[in-house]
Amino acid sequence: MSPLTLALSKGRILDETLPLLAAAGVAPLEHPDRSRKLVLPTNRDGLSLMVLRASDVPTYVQYGAADLGVAGKDVLLEHGSEGLYQPLDLGIGRCRLVVATRRGYDWSGLVQRGARVRVASKYVRTAREHFAAKGMHVDLIKLYGSMELAPLAGLADAIVDLVSTGNTLRANDLVVVEEIMPITSRLIVNPGALKLKGEAIQPLLDALAAAVQANATVSA
Ligand code: PRP
Repeated sequence: MSPLTLALSKGRILDETLPLLAAAGVAPLEHPDRSRKLVLPTNRDGLSLMVLRASDVPTYVQYGAADLGVAGKDVLLEHGSEGLYQPLDLGIGRCRLVVATRRGYDWSGLVQRGARVRVASKYVRTAREHFAAKGMHVDLIKLYGSMELAPLAGLADAIVDLVSTGNTLRANDLVVVEEIMPITSRLIVNPGALKLKGEAIQPLLDALAAAVQANATVSA
């Protein structure tokens, strides 16, 4: 069988990805959190894992440096999905992409008046599309993390960010004023790899689809 590389996103998604992979019969020989290795062999002959910064996963798969990857829909929307086949919603990394402001901030008043607002986000492309679809005038400020600080520090009127438990918003006295979309992680595949290594990739896709199905049945 041809060797395969699967690129995983670091952080919270990884904690949900590893059990899903285990259910599909794939386990790294060393735990990614306890290893400094960047390419991790697995119990499956010829299958290795790479653990990357989430925003780099689509790039590795698009260029074929990894055959497959696990990436959040948020990251895929920002990166663009050209050259990426997305066969499976993994149902993990569930959260929401929202617009949030300080509590008591008159966001709807600003929107109704057609005021020009400043929005800070890591997701500028998705935010731009969201506000353009609503016909709103928005100045977007690109940030790389800790978006919640922007309205508190007076950098922006609002943020576009991911909300999972809502704890970070609550801790900073911010509230959701608009829902943009629900987010989950997707399996992405390099289309060229699928053609050349379909024999090795297809059984992995099938095993993952079965693991996703079993997960959905348990949580239903
Ligand atoms: C994400 C997001 C929020 C937080 C939301 O940040 O940007 O800050 O999680 O989660 P909660 O609703 O459960 O509190 P992450 O921890 O991924 O780090 P980041 O600030 O680098 O994006």
